Amino acid sequence: MRSWYAIDSRLRSSGATGYERSRFPDDMVRVLLHRFARRGDVLLDPFAGTGTTLRVASQYGLTGLGFEPDPELYDVCQRECPPGTLIINDIAQRLCDYAIPECDLILTSPPFSPSGLQDGDGRDYFETIHTVFTLAKGRLRKDAMVLVEGVNVRSEEGVADPLAFNLNVVLSTIFTFQGEIVFCDTSPTANLFGFQHSHMLIYKN
Ligand SMILES: C[S@@+](CC[C@H](N)C(=O)[O-])C[C@H]1O[C@@H](n2cnc3c(N)ncnc32)[C@H](O)[C@@H]1O
Repeated sequence: MRSWYAIDSRLRSSGATGYERSRFPDDMVRVLLHRFARRGDVLLDPFAGTGTTLRVASQYGLTGLGFEPDPELYDVCQRECPPGTLIINDIAQRLCDYAIPECDLILTSPPFSPSGLQDGDGRDYFETIHTVFTLAKGRLRKDAMVLVEGVNVRSEEGVADPLAFNLNVVLSTIFTFQGEIVFCDTSPTANLFGFQHSHMLIYKN
């Protein structure tokens, strides 16, 4: 299994600007759907952001379902995703409040900093991540693949935080770890939160 790809993060087909730092490149989603999705699958993105995953998924004949609590990003999502995509303007911790179908695949990227995660009940980042993925597991088909992008973060002062590695510690208690795909950003201005690559963590339900 090929375990790394080099992608220029500037290559994004969507017109929405201002969210480049936290947005998936379309090509990353294409690579993953090509390998892990089948036409007709229901894809869940609990942290939908600008809706890149859901938009590209629709081009592959998948049905996209996502959560995005930020009203501005939710609007971008609504604008960019075709009809038939279900986008819920709420935090993913409330997943069980909605009648959502059984899902075949998760592809997502949680916020890359604890302060970016809307918590709603005062708990810490990894507890909230654990809650969201445990709830999502309840809506996932057996053997479904779970793909979660994590980045390790380095501050401007040079302090490194192994966020991606800690994410794996939590997710491995819920799903079975299968491996990772590293995405290297070849853009000359790339600075993915202090590093020029991200980790797509791969699990099976
Ligand atoms: C890294 S971004 C996702 C980017 C997305 N992959 C894209 O291409 O645009 C993470 C998103 O999670 C959202 N978010 C924060 N807290 C959340 C929560 N509790 N439930 C669902 N989404 C949340 C943020 O508003 C942000 O848009």
